[in-house]
Amino acid sequence: MRKNIVAGNWKMNNDLSQTESLLADLKVQTQTSNAEVMVAPTFTNLYQANEALKASNIEVIAQNMHFAEKGAYTGEISASMLKSIGVNTTILGHSERREYFKENDELLAKKVDAALANDIRVIFCFGEELADRKSGNEENIVEGQIKNALFHLEASAFKDIVLAYEPVWAIGTGETASPEQAQDMHAFIRKTLANTYGVEVANSVSILYGGSVKPANAQEIFSKPDVDGGLIGGASLKAEDFFAIVNAF
Ligand code: 13P
Repeated sequence: MRKNIVAGNWKMNNDLSQTESLLADLKVQTQTSNAEVMVAPTFTNLYQANEALKASNIEVIAQNMHFAEKGAYTGEISASMLKSIGVNTTILGHSERREYFKENDELLAKKVDAALANDIRVIFCFGEELADRKSGNEENIVEGQIKNALFHLEASAFKDIVLAYEPVWAIGTGETASPEQAQDMHAFIRKTLANTYGVEVANSVSILYGGSVKPANAQEIFSKPDVDGGLIGGASLKAEDFFAIVNAF
C-alpha cells in the first residue's frame, strides 16, 4: 500500500547556524504518526543536515537537481553529487522553479530520468495557477503537467515517484485548497494514472498536497482518502508546527 509522507520544503531559508538550530529542535520532537518524514534544506546545508539526522527517522532530501551527470553547468548540482552525500530523494518541478527559473515539462522529464537513473526518488510537483482554476481548466493543466513529464516512464518507475499537487494560488498565500478541492484533484490524478498504468500502480503512488498546510488544517486535509500527506513550506520552518502536522495523521 502507498505510504503517508510529510515533507518540509525549507526553500531558500536558513543559513548554517539557523539550520543547526532547527535540526536540534527537530530531533527532540516526538512522532506519533506512521508517516515518513522528510526535510529539504538548501544545498549548502544538506551534508550537515544529513549528518545531524542520521540517527533519526527524518530523511534529508534535496529541493532540486540538474539533469546532466557532470560538466559545464555553472551553479548546478548533479544526481551523483547528491548521492555522494547520502541524499536519495529530490523534489522536482516545484512551481517556484517553473516560474522563476522557467523549468518546463520537457526539462523536467530529463531531470526525472536522471534522478531515476541514479536511484534517486522523486517528489514531482505540479499544480494550476489561479486563472486556470477560475476558468475551470485546472484538471487539463494538471493532467498535461503529469503526462508531459512522467508518462514516458515504465510502470515500474512509479515505485520511486511521489506526486505533490501544489495549486500555485495556495502556496505561501495563507489560502488553502479546501479538503474537498484537494480530494477531488487527487482522485482525478489517481484516475489519470490508472487510465495509463492500471489501478494497481495508481493505488501504490503517494499523492501529497502542498499549499498553506498548517497545524490547524492538516488533519482535515489528510483525512481525505486520496491525500497521502503533505509538502509543507512555511510551517516546516518551526519544528513544533512541522511535527504537529506530521502527527496530524
Ligand atoms: P507553503 O506551505 O508555505 O504554502 O508552501 C508550500 C510549498 O510550496 C511546499 O513546497
